[in-house]
Amino acid sequence: MKLIGIETSCDETAVSVVEDGRSILSNVVATQSEMHSDFGGIVPEVASRQHLVTIIPVVNRALAESNLEINQIDGIGVTYGPGLAGSLLVGVNAAKGLAISHDIQLYGVNHLEGHIYASWLGEEDPESDPGFPIMCLIASGGHTDLILMEGHGQFKLIGRTRDDAAGEAFDKGARVLGLGFPGGPEIQRISRSGSGEEPSMPRPRIKGSLDFSFSGLKTALLRRVEGRRWYSDSDARVPDDLEVAHVASVYQEAIVDTIVSLTLEAVSSYKVKGVILGGGVAANSLLREEFNKRSPVKVIVPEPKLCTDNGAMIGSATWFHLRHEASYQWNMDVVPSLRLG
Ligand code: KG4
Ligand code: ZN
Repeated sequence: MKLIGIETSCDETAVSVVEDGRSILSNVVATQSEMHSDFGGIVPEVASRQHLVTIIPVVNRALAESNLEINQIDGIGVTYGPGLAGSLLVGVNAAKGLAISHDIQLYGVNHLEGHIYASWLGEEDPESDPGFPIMCLIASGGHTDLILMEGHGQFKLIGRTRDDAAGEAFDKGARVLGLGFPGGPEIQRISRSGSGEEPSMPRPRIKGSLDFSFSGLKTALLRRVEGRRWYSDSDARVPDDLEVAHVASVYQEAIVDTIVSLTLEAVSSYKVKGVILGGGVAANSLLREEFNKRSPVKVIVPEPKLCTDNGAMIGSATWFHLRHEASYQWNMDVVPSLRLG
């Protein structure tokens, strides 16, 4: 079964063709990050307008790269939430238009489920190794969710962020440190030259809960930078790259250690057989290393470009659904605050 996956929930216009949920025939991602970088975050109005411009060329390119014609496609899956309303609408309406005009099955996919199903793309088969139940961590720009996956389509939310998401902590931290957007890759890059002289930063924990909280850590970073009089008032100074690298590296360590520790606590409480990592923050190399070093169970994490938003993960999630439910969803609407589990 050959499916198109369409993803426009945030600032990536992404379309992919996926065969039988596992094999990527094409995967085109048009990122807008440069358009938003001057603002240090995503501007919803700019994002939706740009999706409108790019969606049809990206669909055409994904089809061309898969060497298929639209009439060889068996179904279309599209993200209908969570995400920015205006951005989601562009993807959903494009998918409806394509599906109606070519009489193709249409399916609405939860973006978070897409991040989980990215782990089925490629060599690994989490269903047979390690098998269910699996603990899923989705750490992205909008979410830090711990989701227990007991089988296909069976999800239970057991922890989430109370304030900032992990990706948001990276993005806001990067802004405080005078780095670019998106902040995660910038902090990862500059942290490589940081050394161990910098005092460490707090590991935020909410007692008796598997919820995350990153806003206090962000404030601690702000206080440290203010304490050194970087950038701010009249006697402010611009730090050199090495000084920024030291602080960035302890900030990254604190975020990563917090995520890994809490996720592994969930792993042991729920006696799961493995962990799936997904979402843009799962592209972080320190996070991947730490999970592999510390996890007592198998860790499955997609290659970095499948951790950030893409259409292939939506194509994969669609296939796993369509195996059980045939569905035309003409009346589908976007649900910006959609949850999973
Ligand atoms: O999943 P994603 O592409 O979009 C959302 O669904 O939000 O995640 C984007 C987030 C951004 O906050 C970005 O800074 C973060 O993922 N990110 C990273 C890395 N690459 C992207 N964070 C840490 N390290 C990275 N290498
Ligand atoms: Zn995402």
